Amino acid sequence: MSDLPTPSIPTAELHLHIEGTLEPELAFALAQRNGISLPYASEDELRGAYSFTDLQSFLNLYYALMAVLRTEDDFAELAHAYLARARAQGVRHAEIFFDPQAHTVRGVSIGTVIDGLSRALDEAPQTYGITTRLIMCFLRDESAQSALTTFEAARPWLDRIAAVGLDSAEVGNPPSKFREVFERARDAGLKCVAHAGEEGPPGYVWEALDVLGVDRIDHGVRCLEDADLVARLVAEQVPLTVCPLSNVRLRVHERLADHPLREMLTAGLLVTVNSDDPAYFGGYVGDNYTAVRDALGLDGATLRTLARNSFLAAFIDEETRAGYL
Ligand code: ADE
Ligand code: ZN
Repeated sequence: MSDLPTPSIPTAELHLHIEGTLEPELAFALAQRNGISLPYASEDELRGAYSFTDLQSFLNLYYALMAVLRTEDDFAELAHAYLARARAQGVRHAEIFFDPQAHTVRGVSIGTVIDGLSRALDEAPQTYGITTRLIMCFLRDESAQSALTTFEAARPWLDRIAAVGLDSAEVGNPPSKFREVFERARDAGLKCVAHAGEEGPPGYVWEALDVLGVDRIDHGVRCLEDADLVARLVAEQVPLTVCPLSNVRLRVHERLADHPLREMLTAGLLVTVNSDDPAYFGGYVGDNYTAVRDALGLDGATLRTLARNSFLAAFIDEETRAGYL
């Protein structure tokens, strides 16, 4: 874990890929337990490979390292490790993405993934003081049919899933490709989110809103290139789950000092700060708050606004929300 000082401010984390919390230590431990050999001699050598030029260069390593996740116990252990770190960084509520297709393609059943994660999440309020939701993401570089098949395979577990999402390689895979599966998810009573405007153009954010009917946009930083889009997002107070350290590591923004977070807040956007894939991007959610505070000179009131936004944007009932605000 980063040894940056962390703010004690309570937050909700709304953009967190559980597979992106796989730290090298756990990856090696699971590899040994499952008899898998990793193409890295040591944890440090693996960490040395965390130098990304864009989203795809990260995704290549992210999917490759998932090979170590095989059993229910593995997924439970992964989630426990995240929850312990999140607790230490002030997280009180976490909405957690998982990528079922990245596991089913390797012969790991969707039930193994959801049951394993659920075991840890069911204990989270008691053990870590964290409430949770699960968000099932479709890989947008896979086919629309594969997303539909995945949704149907998940039906027996839909009571465990709060929302569907859309992630993986954005450019060339517009939200409209997934209209049907999002319609099915909404009909089943699930909330909807989608990564859009990370590497992809503002037009993808429009599509996520108008074609998929999403309740939140994940990332969305490229909305600033389109004034009409910003006006729409402000008017409807559509939450944006922004991930500053991720944006720098994946070269969406060259330096944290160049990050448009302050500009987004000034525009009136409902911005939240999140960690995305913290094991790969140099910090958990508290580290992201600390990093933007230092790089952008944000004061305490602004940090409290960001934290408040995170609870406003969470998929929780009003009574629970009131308890956090
Ligand atoms: N999957 C994991 N992290 C992601 C990101 N930042 N963008 C798209 N897909 C992802
Ligand atoms: Zn993400």
